Amino acid sequence: MVGGGEGAYIGNIHRLASRLDGAWQLVAGAFDVDPERGRAFAVSIGIDRARSYGSYQELIAGEKDRADRVDAVAICTPNFTHYPIAKALIEAGFDVICEKPLTATLEDAIALGRLARDSGRFVGVTYTYSGYPMVHEARVRVAAGEIGRVRSVQVEYPLEWMATAIEQQGNAQAAWRTDPKKNGRGGSIGDIGTHAYHLAGFVTGLKVQALIADLATFVAGRALDDNAHVMLRYEGGARGLLWSSQVALGNSNGVRLRVFGETGSLQWFQEQPNELVFTPLGGRVQIIKRGADDLSEDAKVRTRTPPGHPEGYLEAFANLYAGFAEAIRARTEGREPGALGRHIPLAYDGLKGVAFVESVVDSAESAVPVWLTPVAV
Ligand code: NAI
Repeated sequence: MVGGGEGAYIGNIHRLASRLDGAWQLVAGAFDVDPERGRAFAVSIGIDRARSYGSYQELIAGEKDRADRVDAVAICTPNFTHYPIAKALIEAGFDVICEKPLTATLEDAIALGRLARDSGRFVGVTYTYSGYPMVHEARVRVAAGEIGRVRSVQVEYPLEWMATAIEQQGNAQAAWRTDPKKNGRGGSIGDIGTHAYHLAGFVTGLKVQALIADLATFVAGRALDDNAHVMLRYEGGARGLLWSSQVALGNSNGVRLRVFGETGSLQWFQEQPNELVFTPLGGRVQIIKRGADDLSEDAKVRTRTPPGHPEGYLEAFANLYAGFAEAIRARTEGREPGALGRHIPLAYDGLKGVAFVESVVDSAESAVPVWLTPVAV
């Protein structure tokens, strides 16, 4: 692992999730931007002192010639560091699991996409929400035509934690997320809108053809958007609305997807992840529960406990790791991956996510509003 040191957020989720199924062991790391803190943290979580590195360069140098060298490296650092770290790892022959957004700039994302393709290295991207079994169930049902041709996609990712200027009060996570050089040009849209964009495309299989965006920065002094409204036009004519917000009070992690087709609709809400709501045309609203016998194979392979024993965020994240392990094993063994290793987010998905964010910011900077005609009675 690179990043994810003391006090960091997502690194610990990677550590927990990667080990849930026993497919991965964490054996080495450069966990912190501060070399000494990184080494000390590594030792504190049980990493061999000899494999507790002060930087990713040290990690590469220390690992590349070992007989038991690491199979893959998870990158859990702020956005602007993803590209140089991933590039160095890939060039040294390591597979990579990278956090989203893939990079902070489109230029870097294209370069990394090319590097992944040309090197043949595995590059997985942790689009968390595509790990949930009921999200796979929704994808399978849309593909099977259960809701007919899709007309409208409503996807949202509201958060509340940045509703005040916490970046000016010492919150390290908010500080780099509001610095365009470290985060990239899209604030809420880059940080969480990219999850919503991936989730909508993942479930519907639809490609965005055009968009128009309205970005707002509500917190004074903030350099990037903290609220984004994006209208989407999909190939084939479906329409979409995407909302991301870091200032939506009352929403801890309100990821929600609703897909409306000609003959039915599907709804999924991250805070009730074990349920998928299906409404057929002329029929009753149905709650489909995780663990039921008649679910798709793609949902079943991503389920560990029987119905009534809730699964959630860590299991979804673990599904991504199990999928990455299966994909890497399949490549090593020269076979097609099994169900777990299919429909997993890869470098190209990450690249599309960065391209989406760039297009949103371009649109917001150039779109001309039509002023409402004033009427007086
Ligand atoms: P954080 O600020 O909590 O942690 C970043 C860690 O990286 C710190 O330990 C820092 O010391 C370390 N670091 C920074 N530069 C480094 C370097 N050059 N070498 C080694 N370590 C270095 O950040 P957070 O919130 O954990 O986010 C990290 C990444 O994960 C971001 O790209 C973010 O967008 C993504 N993320 C993804 C989520 C998901 O749902 N998939 C959720 C939260 C974050």
